[in-house]
Amino acid sequence: RNFKRQIECRSDIDRLNASFLAIYESLIPAEEEKAKQKQLLTLLEKLVGKEWPEARLYLYGSCANSFGVLKSDIDVCLAIEVADNKKSEVLLKLADILQSDNLQNVQALTRARVPIVKLMDPVTGISCDICINNLLAVVNTKLLRDYAQIDVRLRQLAFIVKHWAKSRGVNETYQGTLSSYAYVLMCIHFLQQRRPAILPCLQGMERTYAVTVDNVECAYFDRVEKLGDFGCHNRESIAQLVWAFFNYWAYCHDYANDVISVRTGSIISKRSKDWTRRIGNDRHLICIEDPFEIRHDLGRVVDKYSIKVLREEFERAAEIMQYDPNPCATLLEPYIP
Ligand code: GTP
Ligand code: MG
Repeated sequence: RNFKRQIECRSDIDRLNASFLAIYESLIPAEEEKAKQKQLLTLLEKLVGKEWPEARLYLYGSCANSFGVLKSDIDVCLAIEVADNKKSEVLLKLADILQSDNLQNVQALTRARVPIVKLMDPVTGISCDICINNLLAVVNTKLLRDYAQIDVRLRQLAFIVKHWAKSRGVNETYQGTLSSYAYVLMCIHFLQQRRPAILPCLQGMERTYAVTVDNVECAYFDRVEKLGDFGCHNRESIAQLVWAFFNYWAYCHDYANDVISVRTGSIISKRSKDWTRRIGNDRHLICIEDPFEIRHDLGRVVDKYSIKVLREEFERAAEIMQYDPNPCATLLEPYIP
């Protein structure tokens, strides 16, 4: 029954499209927000530079990957030469420095999976997490940003999907659902798979950018401005894509056997990655390969309870896109436990 479904059956598709575009537009951060983020980064650079002149700060995550909606916090990576076992000391020292400069709610979380210092800047009102030497995140941030430049529908789709995930409570890795990073990879993969394709596979092309970080080689085609209007042969609208995205995750994805892989621009098998059984806490119930750390499954946080929650939400979304008279509102309705 599933393959017969088509959103074109909806007579209100144009109106639906306009509604999704309006939601997308309303989520784009204002220029002044970007300026405030820069202002905070400059302050942090000044403070860090006094103590560690050779250290560098990089923005990563949604404030730098073009998938940040308005009023986001910022993620900063401090690149500094320090032995792994001395990272906590650096974080504590950093917290000290920031505290004495009137930054608020400064907290060093040295035992977190990714140890960070948290703070809030009372001048700009922006909150910020600073981690140390997480350079792979800086590089995957660039990859996402480069993909976003190729076709605006990626940013539109990812904004809607992230907004949906936050509203429905399925963007909480500590509760076994997926990170924003995982959702953006799902969107990129999905657009690579459309026919005609809306996005290319940058890691399968000529390598114009290559770095080795933590022994991982990260290389891909990053001259995306040279790709012209890559997706122009595919005329699907954002409403069609949102519908097809949820339809794919609700009814078409083979959860038992498949891994989605942005790196290869295709589906690969769990068997080829030896992700067929639970090892430790990695259950591989939904498999999303990290584009660079290829042994890393971004679905590893999903457990046997949360996979049900996720799949039910995908099905709910797909049903709404098909039948609901006012899909935008219903789709993004907050989940109340
Ligand atoms: P929001 O804050 O929800 O808007 O999204 P975000 O893009 O900041 O995403 P998130 O907080 O999930 O992650 C921040 C960044 O950390 C991502 O953009 C990635 O660069 C990186 N990141 C997150 N999770 C992982 C992971 O499991 N592996 C790696 N290598 N990087 C990750
Ligand atoms: Mg973030």
